Order: sequence, then structure tokens, then C-alpha cells
Amino acid sequence: MAYRDFQDFLQRLEAEGELKRISVPVDPYLEITEVADRVMKMPGGGPALLFENPGGKQIPLAINVFGSRKRMSMALGVQDLEEIACEIEDLLKPEVPRGIWNAARELLPKLAVLTKVPPRYEKGEGRCQEVVLTGDDVDLDRFPILHCWPQDGGRYITLPLVFTHDPNNGKRNVGMYRVQVFDKRTTAMHWQMHKVGAEHARLSAEQRKKIDVAIVLGGDPALTYAATAPLPPGIDEMLFAGFLRKKPVRLVRARTVDVDVPEDAEIVIEGQIDPLELRMEGPFGDHTGYYSLADMYPVLHVTAITHRRNPVYPATIVGRPPMEDGWLGKATERIFLPLLRLTLPEIVDMNLPVEGIFHNIALVSIRKRYPGHAFKVMHALWGLGQAMFTKMIFVFDHDVNVQDIKECLWRLGNNIDPERDMCLVRGPIDVLDHASRAVGFGSKIGFDCTRKLPAEGFHREWPDVIEMTPEIKRRVDALWNQLGL
Ligand SMILES: Cc1cc2nc3c(=O)[nH]c(=O)nc-3n(C[C@H](O)[C@H](O)[C@H](O)COP(=O)(O)O)c2cc1C
Repeated sequence: MAYRDFQDFLQRLEAEGELKRISVPVDPYLEITEVADRVMKMPGGGPALLFENPGGKQIPLAINVFGSRKRMSMALGVQDLEEIACEIEDLLKPEVPRGIWNAARELLPKLAVLTKVPPRYEKGEGRCQEVVLTGDDVDLDRFPILHCWPQDGGRYITLPLVFTHDPNNGKRNVGMYRVQVFDKRTTAMHWQMHKVGAEHARLSAEQRKKIDVAIVLGGDPALTYAATAPLPPGIDEMLFAGFLRKKPVRLVRARTVDVDVPEDAEIVIEGQIDPLELRMEGPFGDHTGYYSLADMYPVLHVTAITHRRNPVYPATIVGRPPMEDGWLGKATERIFLPLLRLTLPEIVDMNLPVEGIFHNIALVSIRKRYPGHAFKVMHALWGLGQAMFTKMIFVFDHDVNVQDIKECLWRLGNNIDPERDMCLVRGPIDVLDHASRAVGFGSKIGFDCTRKLPAEGFHREWPDVIEMTPEIKRRVDALWNQLGL
């Protein structure tokens, strides 16, 4: 189900008892972080928060709106995230129906879903342009922008959808990249070297061209999720968001840059980046639970700010897990599993535990068919889009529940001969990894925790797991109440 806009989503959250309003003034300088951090660490993720009076600013601030499995599912219009995975699995089913009539009956409705969701380009003004600020009126200080953690380099826009276009083919990209605010009309742009926004900037630099950027806040929450999703370059996040919300995203032309923006957004910051103009950005208290170090990133010069008449400012904080972003990551883990299975059909399930910052640890179960199969899966993952950042991969047999960390540790401890079952490789690493030998480059490790085969040089018997017989279990079940235990 699609939401009319971000505020419609907030109303739905409130109606479901999922949102708490805070009318007491709370300061965007550190205080909101401390409140939100405590709430995000409550069992289940705590409620979404609407700070109605953030540091005396007129504009309320919403945070933790994605911060539980229920709210993440609500954001994408489903009862549970698995529904989307099933829908994608169904769309990708390779069976070709027999007979033209069956083909029409089975395939056409599936394809119709896709033809109905590409973005629509509207003429005129959008609701995101009810107020337009240009020239001297441009002032980022109007918004309750968070200074998240004590050692942060400054204030950060933390839930931005960054729209850019490939200067060669015009294709749009939308990524979530944090934005440090330097002053009322200047910001940084933290697109990391492996991300599509950074590639657009490199291509623009080659042509000595500036790059037009729109930083969008709000809109249907499916758009925000889409900006975080690891889609292959060239796949339009607005098309993906349309697929998720079952309704096209409506776009209008930005006022001062050559970018189309969601008509229903709360706030749009338009600007230009000269990819060769760099400035020190950071440090920033990051997803890892550590500060990511300051480094040189491009500068954005704001050309206009447009917003709704009464906007709400969407924000998040990142830090030591569990945090709100963990739920965005869990959505990706579930939604992208069927897509992963297109290349790796042997994968049964996958768990990227939040404590492992998602890409630091992957627990994967596979249907093992041949010697070295677990190593093949590791290498495939390291070669697949943003899965390349996975620092540690543990591959288990199909009957291991990788969602159960205790079971994984038990199997891992028992099933490996470290020297034989470990595989070390070198390659790209998440820019946020502070332990790697260089920024963005380091090593990764995989462990084959599967049963070993004779063809893998294992010639002893592989022992059975200890289990009681069903017969005895039934007899003890029947006795249980008499035992007084
Ligand atoms: C809350 C949040 C903040 C993020 N901040 C950044 C960031 O500052 N820089 C970055 O490169 N990626 C960041 N990411 C990850 C990207 O949004 C993610 O990798 C996305 O798929 C990138 O899109 P792209 O492939 O179109 O570049 C963040 C993700 C989340 C959930």
C-alpha cells in the first residue's frame, strides 16, 4: 500500500500506537541522539519519535520511523518483509507456462505489475515546492539538523536521498549519503568511492563538468528504503520504489537544477558539486559504533531549498548497534535473498547479524552438492555488488538455521579444521572499516562450516548430531506432568 507522503506514514504509525510525540524541547545538539539511542536500544526497537519542539525550531523532527520489524514492514506496505521476498521470487520464477492461454493467464498479470510502476513526470509545482527559497533566503539553519555525537565534525543531515544523473547516459541514481552542513548554504557529500554517486562525480570530473544534485528528505518511506538498497548501477531506485509501493512515484522538476524530485517530499535541497572541489569532512559517529575518520569529500553549494508549507524533518542516528539502520539492513537481507538466488540457487538462507554491522559477518546456508562448494559461494558473494564488503563469511549446510546465532557458533566450533576450511582473499572493503590496511582496501575471510566430503580429503566418518528417538520423546512427553519438574 502506498502512502500519500511521509506525514501520512507518520499518521499511520500513530494510529497503530507506533509513534510517540515529544513536546518537551530537546536539543538537536547531542540531546536528541541520547534520547533516540536509548529508545532504539529498547527490546524490539522502541517507538518512532516525533520531536515537536527540537531546539526551538518551528519544524518537528521524526526519528526511528523504520526502527522495528513491524514499522519497517509498514513502511513498505506489507504485514511482514517476507511478503516482498515471496513476491519477487514469484516474479522471477523461471517456469515457462505451457500453452499460449496459460502464458497469458500467468505471465501477463505479473508483467502488468511492472508496467504500472515506472515513475511519472508531472508538470508544474509539487507539494515539495510550496515554499521556495533561493538567493539570500537559502538557509539550512531553518531545520533541526542533528549534531549526533560529541566528536562529530559538525551537524549532519542523516536520512537524505541524494539524486544525481550519470553525465554520459542521463540515468538517475538515488543513494543515501550523509551530508555534513558547513554553513547555511554549503555542505559536504559523503558518497564513498564504491558508490554510484561517487562514480557520477568521477565521470563529471573527466568532462570538467559540475554535477547537479538534489537532496530529498521524506516522501513515501518506500523511497527512503530504495535509496539504501544495493541495486545494481543503472537500475532506477524510483522504479524500484514504485514496485515496492505498487504505485508510480510522481516526480516534478527541481527549481534550480536539472533533476526530477519526488513531488510529495517534505524538503528538497538543490545544489551543485564541482567534483574537483574537496573539503575535510567528518569525523562522524558511524554505523560501526566507532567514529569514521575525517577525509576529503566534495562540497555542495546549495542553489535552492524547497519545502512543504508545514514540513516534518526526517532524521536518524547511527552508532553502536542495534540502531534504526539495522532494520533497513534486515529489509535488504530479506528482499534481496531471492535476487541472490538467481546467481546462487544453492543458497537456502542468509543472516547478516546487526551486531556484525551487516557486511562484517554473513552466515549463509547452502545445499552443498560438490567438493569446494562453500568456497564457490564465498567467492561469488565477494564478486557481487555491495556484498563485496562482506569481511567474514561463514557457510553452513542447508539444515543449519542461520538465524540462530547459538546454533551457528556450535556448528562453527565443531565443523572446521581452520587451516583446511579457511579462505583469505584481498579486495575492496567498506570505507568505514577502520581496521583495514588502507581506506577501502583490505582482506576478507571465509569459513567452510559444512560437512566435509571424501573428495575434499576427509576420509573419516562424519558423526551424527546427538538426538533422542521420537518414540522416547513421546513417552517422556506423556510422563512430563507427573515428574513435578
Ligand atoms: C542511514 C544510512 C546512512 C548511510 N550513509 C552513507 C554514506 O554517508 N555514504 C555512503 O556512501 N553510503 C551510505 N550508506 C549506504 C548507502 O546508502 C548504500 O550503500 C546504498 O546502496 C548506496 O546507493 P548506490 O549504490 O546507489 O550508491 C548509508 C546507509 C544508511 C542506511
